[in-house]
Amino acid sequence: MKRNLLILSLSFLFLFQGNVKADEGMWLPYFLGKKYQEMKALGLSLTQEQLYDINHASLKDAIVMLDGGNCTGEIISSQGLLLTNHHCGYGEIQAHSSVEHDYLTDGFWAYSLGEELVNPGKTASFLVRIEDVTAQVLKEVKATASEQEREQAIQTAIAKLEKDAVKGTHYEAQVANMFEGNEFYLFVYETFRDVRLVGAPPSSIGKFGGDTDNWIWPRHTGDFSMFRVYMGKDGKPADYSPENVPYQPKHYLPVSVKGVKENDFAMIWGYPGSTDRYLSSYGVVQKSDELNPVTVKLREKKMEIMKNYMDQDAKIRIQYAEKYAYLGNFWKKDREESKALRRLKVADQKKALETEFLNWSAQGEDRSAKYGEVISTFEKAYKVKSDSSYSKAWWYIIEASFFQGSEILTFALKHNTLKGMLTAEKDATAVIDELKGEAAHFYKDFNPTIDKEILGAMLQMYHDDLPAELHPEFFKMVEKKFKGNFNAYAEMVFKKSVFANEEKYMNFLSNPKKQLEKEPAMEAIFGLFAKFQELQMAQNELDTELQKAKRLFIDGIRQMNDQRFYYPDANSTMRLTYGTVRGYEPRDAVKYDFITYLEGVIQKEDPTNEEFVVPAKLKELYAAKDFGTYTDNGKVPVCFLTNHDITGGNSGSPVINANGELIGTAFDGNADAMSSDIQFDPKLQRTIVCDIRYVLFVMDKMANAQNLIKELEIRN
Ligand code: ARG
Repeated sequence: MKRNLLILSLSFLFLFQGNVKADEGMWLPYFLGKKYQEMKALGLSLTQEQLYDINHASLKDAIVMLDGGNCTGEIISSQGLLLTNHHCGYGEIQAHSSVEHDYLTDGFWAYSLGEELVNPGKTASFLVRIEDVTAQVLKEVKATASEQEREQAIQTAIAKLEKDAVKGTHYEAQVANMFEGNEFYLFVYETFRDVRLVGAPPSSIGKFGGDTDNWIWPRHTGDFSMFRVYMGKDGKPADYSPENVPYQPKHYLPVSVKGVKENDFAMIWGYPGSTDRYLSSYGVVQKSDELNPVTVKLREKKMEIMKNYMDQDAKIRIQYAEKYAYLGNFWKKDREESKALRRLKVADQKKALETEFLNWSAQGEDRSAKYGEVISTFEKAYKVKSDSSYSKAWWYIIEASFFQGSEILTFALKHNTLKGMLTAEKDATAVIDELKGEAAHFYKDFNPTIDKEILGAMLQMYHDDLPAELHPEFFKMVEKKFKGNFNAYAEMVFKKSVFANEEKYMNFLSNPKKQLEKEPAMEAIFGLFAKFQELQMAQNELDTELQKAKRLFIDGIRQMNDQRFYYPDANSTMRLTYGTVRGYEPRDAVKYDFITYLEGVIQKEDPTNEEFVVPAKLKELYAAKDFGTYTDNGKVPVCFLTNHDITGGNSGSPVINANGELIGTAFDGNADAMSSDIQFDPKLQRTIVCDIRYVLFVMDKMANAQNLIKELEIRN
């Protein structure tokens, strides 16, 4: 599951509860000692040191954080070959595609190192070590400190720790907050900046089933792609250079074609982005009933606009493929999340925990003084939020701009510095050169007609759905000058804006006088932004109280259930989750098997539906039973299920058997348990994995990439 970058930065709340089963939990490898015996009991045969060791090579050295946590990858050869999901490489596959070389449709394979494709900006990070720095971070926090003083002391301590940790090295350090400010851990990384595209199947394999099958089992998607990490000749990270050489990993994962059986032990290592397992019952209701309906509605509209043009034009289809897929993924996620939260009565489950907490916190004066107001703070804060619709308004602003909204706005936002320099009549050559680089990238996949429609539609819905006091200032002008017609307003923006298309923009840059002074796209985004900040300020006090309540809530719960070992919410730090291969029963009279086969791909074929086209070559291989050794009783496995606890950011994570061998790459969760970011449901929550035998079958038989097959250590 790919991480939703935005949600992370806006993270509302979080929490976890219920009975911890072997399958629940995104464990820090740091806590391995506490979980190791349980893993052994389930079948693991590696030693603790083989899994995680900061002085010697161990399994953790094969686990890669991609692009700062967007996805996960794993190293599968001694030459830095990396496996991840197709949807994790989708942006790069799309960026290298054109109508002439349509790698989205046809796939791409490099048959030698020289054919691999360079991806500026793409990064691969390896974890060097983890350290518990809670005591150091909290050392200067006085017992009487206000929330603000507390925060300040913490930030000062963190800045120093991060700096000291990497002194004299080329590493990067990050102190991550765990359990909502109760604990802090230091993570040190080595980040490589030359990561090249090696291979991807056609979308008819890598994205087979499209949005219809997305988040759904039974699944038949070959959701994988391959990259290679490069290093400088000195073995250190380097910017792209033809002189760079393939990365020599400390550890790489051997690949097993032995296959999986139900109840086999398996573990997943990776970088889950964000969960809200400690969210209060009030927060659950807000998410399912107030916020998700907004995001679902606005995303649906944007998708409708894009799709209309994508269907008419091959170039636009490629330009907007990644944007559309991104929207589609999170549109469906939020829609299914609301349904699952209600169906599984998650708010009631949270309520039960809150009642228990209330009883616990009422025992003794000290306790009630410290924890007595936690639950009432939750209740009060969400009531204010709901009555004011502040959070809702936020989402209208975000969906209109940052969340794959109108891109002219987000591009315009980058011009504030230039604007200041132009007004002050300063020399802006350096800034302009940088913007030229960004512009080439931006306009390559920008369609003004689509963007104009999105701008008009998003602002219209914002205007019509929310009361005037939640509108940005410039809406009044639109009401007056354009009679409240935001499409007409968007027309004007695109007629006048210097950002409206590449030609206009380049003209502007060639003689950039004071044209940004009354620039309409900038006025729009800064107008939205001003409102955003105003809403944030208005909730500042409330959010500070809420943050404190959350911290105390988790702290209290951990004391209340002191026999239980808790895991912190996902926050893009390395985690492992362990469990077994297994199917499930989604509802009455329905029982899902744990594995799917190529046969199912053929059964789903629908040449009239772009999501279910089956490539001719795949059909030929199927008819000829040309399966190589990648079979299970004569059939080619495609996907299987496990009961692991993963979320967005885990996409591409290795699924590893008891012997430390790779058996698949995790790529999805299931809609039946789409409430999983808030509450783990052991009966329903499953991870959907692309079987490594399907990966090998496609590489070998479809792509004939023998160069890559030879690089792997395949174990029978
Ligand atoms: N659900 C997957 C995830 O969140 C992404 C699948 C991409 N496929 C799609 N049809 N949009 O990681």
